[in-house]
Amino acid sequence: MMVEVIQGRIEEMEDKAIVVNLFKRVKRPGGATGAVDKALGGMIRDLIRGGDLKGKFKEAVLFRTFRKIPAERVLVVGLGEKEKFSLDRIREVSAKAARHLRDAGVDSYSTIVHGAGIGGFDLREASEALVEGALLGTYKFDRYKTELKEEEKRELRRMRVLVRDPADVGRVEEAIRWAEPVSVATNFVRDLVASPARDKTPTRLAEIAVEIAREAALKCTIIDREEAEKLNMGAFLGVAQGSDEPPKLIVLEYRGGKKGEKPIAVVGKGITFDSGGLSLKPAKSMEDMKEDMAGAAATIGILKAAAELKLPVNLIGFAPCTENLPSGKATKPGDVLKTHTGKTIEVRNTDAEGRLVLADALGYATGFEPQAIIDMATLTGACMVALGKKTTGMMGTSENLMERLKAAGKRTGDYVWPLPLFEDYEEQIKSDIADVKNTGGRYGGAITAALLLKKFVKDIPWVHLDIAGTVWTDGGAADLKREYLPKGATGIGVRLLLQLLRDWKQSP
Ligand code: BES
Ligand code: MN
Ligand code: ZN
Repeated sequence: MMVEVIQGRIEEMEDKAIVVNLFKRVKRPGGATGAVDKALGGMIRDLIRGGDLKGKFKEAVLFRTFRKIPAERVLVVGLGEKEKFSLDRIREVSAKAARHLRDAGVDSYSTIVHGAGIGGFDLREASEALVEGALLGTYKFDRYKTELKEEEKRELRRMRVLVRDPADVGRVEEAIRWAEPVSVATNFVRDLVASPARDKTPTRLAEIAVEIAREAALKCTIIDREEAEKLNMGAFLGVAQGSDEPPKLIVLEYRGGKKGEKPIAVVGKGITFDSGGLSLKPAKSMEDMKEDMAGAAATIGILKAAAELKLPVNLIGFAPCTENLPSGKATKPGDVLKTHTGKTIEVRNTDAEGRLVLADALGYATGFEPQAIIDMATLTGACMVALGKKTTGMMGTSENLMERLKAAGKRTGDYVWPLPLFEDYEEQIKSDIADVKNTGGRYGGAITAALLLKKFVKDIPWVHLDIAGTVWTDGGAADLKREYLPKGATGIGVRLLLQLLRDWKQSP
C-alpha cells in the first residue's frame, strides 16, 4: 500500500472513503469529525443519538454519504476512553480501520491522524503509529494459497494522511519516512519466519542476505562450512552436522556512524528447522519449529531497514543459520564441542542447540570489538513458562542498555521484561568433563541458557532477548492480541531494535 500525506480538509476530500474518529461518551464531536458531521447535516450526531455509534475502542461504523460530501463513504472509528488513549491504541485503531475498509472492498482512503488533535499526541509520533498500524495490520501471508476467495484477494492501494495546516505536512512526511521502511521490514521478517523450512534453507537465507546487501549497499559476508571450520566454530558446526543442508553464518555490515566508531553487534539465532536433533522433539512440539530462525530474520530485517533509514550508527549483524536434524552424522548427547573462543561445551541435549550456534556467533562477534552486543533468539520454552507469550525475556550485563530496551519496548509495543542472571544459577550448567554443559535442568531454563551465552561475550555490554514466546501469535488467549498483529509471525524485535538504534547513545 502506498502512503502519502496531503494537505486539505477531510470533509472536502474526494476518495473512496474518509476516516474520522470518536472518543467514548462524546455526543457532539468537534474537530475533523465535527466538520464532517456538519457537512453531512448532522448524520454522525444522529448515529450517536440513535445508539449506532458509541466511540467504543476499536468500534468501526461505515456508512455511505450519498454525495452529500465528495467522499463515497465515511468510517468512524472508536478511540475508547480518553484516559486509556495511547500510541499503541492509535496503531490498533489504524489497523482496525485499514482492515475494515479493505474487507468492505475499499482500496483507497483518506484519514486524519488519530490522537494528534484532542488526543494530545505529538503529530509525528501519532502519524508514525497511524502508518505502522495500517501497514502492519493489513499484513497477510497467503502466497501458498492457490484458491483465494474474491474477498481474500482484496488489497488496499493507497492511504492518504490528511493534515489541515500546511505547516504540518513536513512532520507527517518525516513520520512516513520512518514508519514505512520500519513496517515494510517487519512484514518482510514476518514472511521469512512464516515461510516453510524447505523454502528458507541456510543457503537460501544467505542468498536473500546477499540480495538485500546489494540493494541496500550493505557489506555481506557468508561464512560457509569450510570457512567456519577454519574459524574453529565447532559448536555451530556440531549443530549443522546432522543435516544435509550446509550451514551459513551470515554477516551484514552497515556503516552509518562516525568513522572509527565501534559498531553495535546484532546477533540472531537462525535454526531454519529445529527437530531437536537426536534428542528429538515430540511431534506436537516440532510443528512450529520453522519459526526458530526468527532471530536471524530480525537481524537481516534490521540491517536492511537501518540502511534505508540511514541510521547514524555502525551496525554489524550475525545470523548463524543451520538446520537441527538427527542423522547418522549428527552430534550425540555426551559429545563435547570446541567453540571459536576455545571454550568447550558438553552437549547433554541436542535440542538445546540455539545456545550452541550463538556461542560461536557471539564469540566471533566479540572479535569485531563492538561497543555493545544484542542477541535475539527463540531460545527456550522455559522463557514462555516464565513470562508467557506476551512479553520477551531480557537478560544481560548492561543495566543501562536494558533500561533503554524497556523504554523502546513500551514505545513500540514489543514489550520486554528482565529475568536475573544471578551467579547462583551457574552451578546448574557446570560440566564434569567440559567448560560448560548445554542444559541446566528443569528450573530457570531461560536463565541458565542465557548464562551459557554470557560466557562468550567477554566484557562487552550485552543483552539477550529470548523471543520464543513472542515470535508467533495464533490469536489465542495466551497470545498478545493487537489489531496490528495478524495471526502468524509477529516480526518481534525489528521495531524494538530500530527504535533503540534511532537515538542510540553509547552505553556507559
Ligand atoms: N527452539 C527451541 C525453543 C522454543 C520452544 C522456541 C518453543 C519456540 C517455541 C529450543 O531450541 C529448544 O528446544 N529449547 C529447549 C531447551 C532444553 C532442551 C534445555 C526447551 O526449551 O525445551
Ligand atoms: Mn531446540
Ligand atoms: Zn531451537
